[in-house]
Amino acid sequence: MYQSKIAGLGKYLPDRIVTNDDLSKVMETSDEWIQERTGIKERRYAKKHEETTTTMAAKASTIAIDRAGITKEDVDFIIFATLSPDYYFPGCGVLLQRELGITKTEIGALDIRNQCSGFIYALSIADQYIKSGMYKNILVVGSEMHSMGLDFSTRGRAVTVIFGDGAGAAIVQRTDNKDQGILSTKLHSDGTYAEKLAFLAPGSHGGYHNDQLEEPVDYGFDKSIDYGEIFFTEKMLNEGKYYPRMEGQFVFKLAVTKFPEVIGEVLEDAKLETSDINMLIPHQANLRIASFVQKRLGLGDDQVFNNIQKYGNTTAASIPIAFCEAWEEGKIKEGDLVCLAAFGSGFTWGAALLRF
Ligand code: COA
Repeated sequence: MYQSKIAGLGKYLPDRIVTNDDLSKVMETSDEWIQERTGIKERRYAKKHEETTTTMAAKASTIAIDRAGITKEDVDFIIFATLSPDYYFPGCGVLLQRELGITKTEIGALDIRNQCSGFIYALSIADQYIKSGMYKNILVVGSEMHSMGLDFSTRGRAVTVIFGDGAGAAIVQRTDNKDQGILSTKLHSDGTYAEKLAFLAPGSHGGYHNDQLEEPVDYGFDKSIDYGEIFFTEKMLNEGKYYPRMEGQFVFKLAVTKFPEVIGEVLEDAKLETSDINMLIPHQANLRIASFVQKRLGLGDDQVFNNIQKYGNTTAASIPIAFCEAWEEGKIKEGDLVCLAAFGSGFTWGAALLRF
């Protein structure tokens, strides 16, 4: 069986910096509140009409491909994780293929819908494909353009202040070196609380587009939730139904227990200890969550990498951006034990342990 290693990392952050003070000009919030609750000082927003989730991903991917010492034609599979795609369909995987100018069709492109843990899921899938011998060079990408879909009125402040745009990419490559690469990945899901952190409308929960064809049926969905309608309506626009909703404290409480649990699982699988970790890269959801996890695991400041202060929560992009930045800053060296961990909407969570 083959082993899969990270051969190259790339990231792209849009130039436009949006500070907490900038947000306080359009909604009732403050730099103090945001920093105290989340650690975020600023985030990046993509250029409207110029940049998309896919164009940002292409920039990060080009860097990762170059750093891996391969060409775009060597990529034999694309896995794209995002919750903010360019289109409802087709997914960003094929759009990225086109944007990169990969014309060969002996390539697969897969889209991952796992929000904050999307990159961990994508990495785990890439690892299995490499191990089975099916592919040699898999481009794994996380990219988000949250700024296109946030509520910039005070109504949306609890969610809007947290998120930012950006992209991160990795080339996952076949290696025969058993001492290097992905040692373990663990994935989890629990759909019980799917609506606690979700983007509900428009969607099929909303019923039928044309009620003249068929009477709406009561499927017994949770009546306390207004799921919106199947297509955009004025009512939905007025009520802000097409924005993300989040029960922040509920998410927070689960996140702080699931992060340490799943990190423990990958370590146990690889027969290693917390003290063996050279760098933990937690999904950048909230600095308080990361600090809690760090304390719980007894890790030092030099063993955990955070950059949420600069970029906010970039969901599927947060881990590859942070991973890339930590490497660029010389904080991850060859042979280091790196642990990546995420928790988010679904709920889904997971971790990956690798020898860099
Ligand atoms: N600016 C100012 N005040 C705000 C605000 C903002 N941006 N957002 C919410 N508030 C207000 C609320 O309206 C509330 O006011 P009230 O007490 O008068 O009702 C008060 O601040 C407290 O709100 P609450 O939601 O209880 O705050 P919190 O301490 O739970 O912090 C989060 C909110 C979202 C920062 C926090 O819950 C969190 O980070 N949760 C995890 C979220 C997460 O990780 N999401 C991504 C998952 S991957």
